[in-house]
Amino acid sequence: MPSVSVCLSPRLADIHDFRDKIGIVVDILRATTTISTALEYGAIAIRPIETLDECKNWRSKGYLGAAERGGKKVEGFEYGNSPFDYINKNISGEKIALTTTNGTKTIHAVKTADMVLMGSFCNISALSEVLMDKKKDIIIVCAGWDDEINLEDTLFAGALIDGLMDSFDVSADPAILAHNLFLNGKDDMFQFLKKSSHVTRLLNFGLKKDIYFCLEQDKFDNIAVLKNEEIVLL
Ligand code: MLT
Repeated sequence: MPSVSVCLSPRLADIHDFRDKIGIVVDILRATTTISTALEYGAIAIRPIETLDECKNWRSKGYLGAAERGGKKVEGFEYGNSPFDYINKNISGEKIALTTTNGTKTIHAVKTADMVLMGSFCNISALSEVLMDKKKDIIIVCAGWDDEINLEDTLFAGALIDGLMDSFDVSADPAILAHNLFLNGKDDMFQFLKKSSHVTRLLNFGLKKDIYFCLEQDKFDNIAVLKNEEIVLL
């Protein structure tokens, strides 16, 4: 039976062996949600970039530039990391160079996996179907905040595990922890997360609608996969 485990912070990625496994990158608020949204609304590729300077360079190669730091859009970039930056915004056929505080860095930490998929509530059922079909070991990698564990990414890991546990071995402690967190918070995830650091940060920025968007399940049935350094539709 294939197994599912959870890497609670990108800082812990080095203790995992990603070879021949599927890595699921999770940054619920908001990078992986935003990536799936941009692909749903017509972007053909998102290139995850680690630094602002590198992101600027890709703009000279015809990519739209998108940058977020500390939860805010970076001055001088057309796009930030809110899913609403990409909904009905004429991005069809465009390639986006995206750099965020934690999410894009985490994608680079998982690159040695056999397959790297983006996980978010907006496509959780479609993602579960693909994982059930592939029957490969899975490591869910939470982006957290500044290498610290966060609630929302761990909650998602537990939600994904909840749908897979009849077909996957869930014996790793971090997976059991994530699943129990989900069982505690699943009835009202917004209320459960209200005191978390990043929800507090985003609420202070007036971004309540981003939070609700990122917690809504199954808005899309697309799957975002890392291919040749860019994220595209599977
Ligand atoms: C991140 O990369 O940590 C998040 O996406 C930050 C955000 O968009 O608020």
